[in-house]
Amino acid sequence: MASPSTARVSFCNLFLFVCTATSIASAAEYIVGDERGWNNRSPPALPNELFYTWWADLHTFYVGDRLNFNNETDTVQLVNRKDYINCNTSNPIQELKGNNTVFELRKLGYHHFISGEADNCLAGQKMMVLVVHDGYKRTHNDSKSAARVV
Ligand SMILES: *[C@@H]1O[C@H](CO)[C@@H](O)[C@H](O)[C@H]1NC(C)=O
Ligand SMILES: *[C@@H]1O[C@H](CO)[C@@H](O)[C@H](O)[C@H]1NC(C)=O
Ligand SMILES: *[C@@H]1O[C@H](CO)[C@@H](O)[C@H](O)[C@H]1NC(C)=O
Ligand SMILES: *[C@@H]1O[C@H](CO)[C@@H](O)[C@H](O)[C@H]1NC(C)=O
Repeated sequence: MASPSTARVSFCNLFLFVCTATSIASAAEYIVGDERGWNNRSPPALPNELFYTWWADLHTFYVGDRLNFNNETDTVQLVNRKDYINCNTSNPIQELKGNNTVFELRKLGYHHFISGEADNCLAGQKMMVLVVHDGYKRTHNDSKSAARVV
């Protein structure tokens, strides 16, 4: 017997084309950290890692959205969870540097980003981003993020 949540998922799959088309049409580009940017300068009240976690939590990311790290001198690495925890910069899945600092989120699930400078990563310049299915919008109440800003 289908539970209500299974029913919702199948409903979205049925309209997968529509869901996909919607997410492409509304794909957003975010400047990571907004005015503060991507660097290892802690804001007054918050250690770096908490800041980037907080920043990522303010948004709901969908497939097709882009993260602009917007720092031409720093290197950004997409790494696995273990390397994220250990700030291990020797096996990046992908590396962004120079004028190419825009990362397109192409997959669902967690993405782990660290600074390509291990010391900066150890100082908290790291960020974990969750990419959710477009159907999430319809099944969860997004007012959570608005509440967090206050
Ligand atoms: C870019 O990253 C470097 C190294 O972390 C940092 O010194 C610099 O301030 C950053 N620039 C911006 C605009 O955040
Ligand atoms: C980083 O990862 C590589 C490959 O997995 C491993 O050989 C190395 O020991 C790691 N370095 C650190 C400092 O954990
Ligand atoms: C950006 O990078 C590309 C290729 O890496 C290069 O061809 C281009 O000239 C660069 N643009 C600027 C403004 O540095
Ligand atoms: C979402 O939450 C807000 C505020 O709590 C509420 O007014 C609204 O009805 C909720 N929407 C849904 C779809 O549950």
